[in-house]
Amino acid sequence: MSPDFAHAAFSMDDFTSVAVTEQQISDKLDQIAAQIREDYEGKEVLLVGVLKGAVMVMADLARRLPPSVEMDWMAVSSYGSGTKSSGVVRILKDLDADLTGRHVLIVEDIIDTGMTLSWLLGNLRSRGAESVEVAALLRKPDAVQVEISVRYVGFDIPSDFVVGYGLDWAEKYRTLPFVAVLKPSVYSED
Ligand code: XMP
Ligand code: MG
Repeated sequence: MSPDFAHAAFSMDDFTSVAVTEQQISDKLDQIAAQIREDYEGKEVLLVGVLKGAVMVMADLARRLPPSVEMDWMAVSSYGSGTKSSGVVRILKDLDADLTGRHVLIVEDIIDTGMTLSWLLGNLRSRGAESVEVAALLRKPDAVQVEISVRYVGFDIPSDFVVGYGLDWAEKYRTLPFVAVLKPSVYSED
């Protein structure tokens, strides 16, 4: 590993601002995990992470929960024109677990229009789960337009495009320990 790579994993020049700091994420996950432990007392929870964006929040949230929690993963793709979700979703990787009688908690990185999540809730509920709830680290203002109940929300943020802590731009920046607003010059240059 070159010294450059080891010491400069990212440059702050790529961001307009930090939307949520590493400390804020950590404190919020402590709070959400405490609430989940209380709400699911005596129940076995199956965490369902949505690839790839939810990997960081899943790992950090799951480690704050009792060792009885299970993790499973789904990958979905939203059909849509350009960058907007259409609500028409295709399953790229399905769950391994049978949801019959399970308490399912979907773990999401971000809810933008909410269309992907709305579809996912319907799909998982139709599989005979005892309960299906949602924990999302971030939520953008458009999400209110769709009727979905999100039981646990970390932060309500503005509509700006954000990266970090699982969120990417062209597969980059997922490994940042914080969430930052990407400078438009980064994605407009080529
Ligand atoms: P919905 O259906 O809620 O889609 O519109 C949510 C999905 O859109 C992606 N998304 C983002 N990804 N930075 C990202 O890296 C963002 O600011 C952003 N906003 C939405 C993400 O995949 C999420 O699951
Ligand atoms: Mg996602």
